[in-house]
Amino acid sequence: MKRIVVLTGAGISAESGIKTFRDSNGLWEEHRIEDVATPQAWQRNPKLVTNFYNQRRKQVMEALPNKAHLALVELEKQYQVVVITQNVDDLHERAGSKHIIHLHGEILKMRSEEDPSMIYQSNGWEMDYESTNAHGHRLRPHIVWFGEMVPKMDEAIFQTMKADIFLVIGTSLEVYPAAGLIDYTSQTCEKYIVDPKARELNHIQNLTVIQNTAGEGVPALVNKLIKNV
Ligand code: APR
Repeated sequence: MKRIVVLTGAGISAESGIKTFRDSNGLWEEHRIEDVATPQAWQRNPKLVTNFYNQRRKQVMEALPNKAHLALVELEKQYQVVVITQNVDDLHERAGSKHIIHLHGEILKMRSEEDPSMIYQSNGWEMDYESTNAHGHRLRPHIVWFGEMVPKMDEAIFQTMKADIFLVIGTSLEVYPAAGLIDYTSQTCEKYIVDPKARELNHIQNLTVIQNTAGEGVPALVNKLIKNV
């Protein structure tokens, strides 16, 4: 079976009602990154950071996977598929994708500040900023904040290097290291970008740019890839 690696960003969840970050009306217009999405913000004002993620978590729990998430699952009938997502929602999981790498963490999980291997599923959307685990460790959102390492990056690079086909869906490709993953694809790898604002990347060969929404563009591309097998 050929291998498809999919890199997704906020744009794939936009049609599920979850705001993107950098579009007009996006999250970073309403909130300053340094107030809510850095380790320093968490140290300074954990209540504000917790409220921000509580609102995000509530929105995610109310959302449903859309046609694009569901179409990616169809690919698994014909290909080995790995989804690398920058999204912290669980819409790929709920759609049914089997192999998902969350580069930027998962909003429905919390973890110990002292031992990052202690990870807990959150109960409901509302987290208390003073909550602790049984060892008395304070819990923080299981999110990769700006300025933090991206622990799953090595695994993402490893998968990308082996891809026969690489799809990029709904990301502005402004945040590194995720944005640099496409540079690890092989020359023979077929690459596609689906995003209404997608641009050509001059240094990337074998690239097809599809300027369309995920809801329309992804099911059409999936149909084509399934027919091509
Ligand atoms: N279908 C497909 N793409 C869409 C749609 C849609 N319906 N609507 C918007 N988009 C595209 C936009 O054109 C844009 O290119 O989604 C992209 C969203 O870009 P960003 O808001 O920058 O989101 P993303 O690339 O996922 O951000 C990366 O930045 O702040 C962080 O940690 C956060 O993981 C996030 C990272």
